[in-house]
Amino acid sequence: MRKVHIVGNWKMNQSVAEINAFTETVLAMKDLNCEAWIAPQAIHLSMLLTKATTIKVGAQNCSNHNSGAFTGELSPASLKDLGAHFVIVGHSERRAIFKEDDQLLNQKVLKALENNLKVILCVGETLEERESGDFKSILKSQLLNGLKDISATDKENIIIAYEPVWAIGTGKVASPEQAQEVHAFLREELKAVEALEAQATPILYGGSVKPANIQGLLENEDIDGALVGGASLKGESFKELCELSK
Ligand code: PGA
Repeated sequence: MRKVHIVGNWKMNQSVAEINAFTETVLAMKDLNCEAWIAPQAIHLSMLLTKATTIKVGAQNCSNHNSGAFTGELSPASLKDLGAHFVIVGHSERRAIFKEDDQLLNQKVLKALENNLKVILCVGETLEERESGDFKSILKSQLLNGLKDISATDKENIIIAYEPVWAIGTGKVASPEQAQEVHAFLREELKAVEALEAQATPILYGGSVKPANIQGLLENEDIDGALVGGASLKGESFKELCELSK
């Protein structure tokens, strides 16, 4: 009942020529059994939105305001107006580099939902936090604080992504068993969020996912897809990920 989602997070990458090459390969995809989504840099959203037919397009971040004097920010209302489908909120790079805390991230989640965008809320622990032993309480607070005050009408617009920070861009993928254990834990914690149906909420894994390891991850009951950085940049590799995800 939970559809598999393969979401490419391009971060601050891709030239116009690279995007053209990507779309040529990816638009030829047919009969997909998964949701195939891409989050390009904000500057490339319009370009990808006019080209994309088989894939859905969204943003890597958004503001906690719809409009006003916020130089350099990305309005969730404008994202919706442009035709964007979703927004990623709370990626570990936003948390660590841009110092976004749970309170701000919750405001972003609520603003994006208010605009009827789907939200991918990211949670994840650093290596230090994992080794400290109590990393699950950190994940729990990222999850529950991020989802605070959402309403039942938003339940179909929430997707969770578990991205252990130590596995992002490092080539060190969490083992399918490690990922499944955390996904099952997160699903259990989601039961505390009255607005959501824990069993129906997709939980994606992210961190060094590539065609060679996607199937092992997806075989697990609580892993419903992947948030993919590096391996989503090339059309061939993204296409392969989608084709392997059934
Ligand atoms: P990666 O990035 O696939 O390159 O590890 C994942 C992410 O940061 O979403």
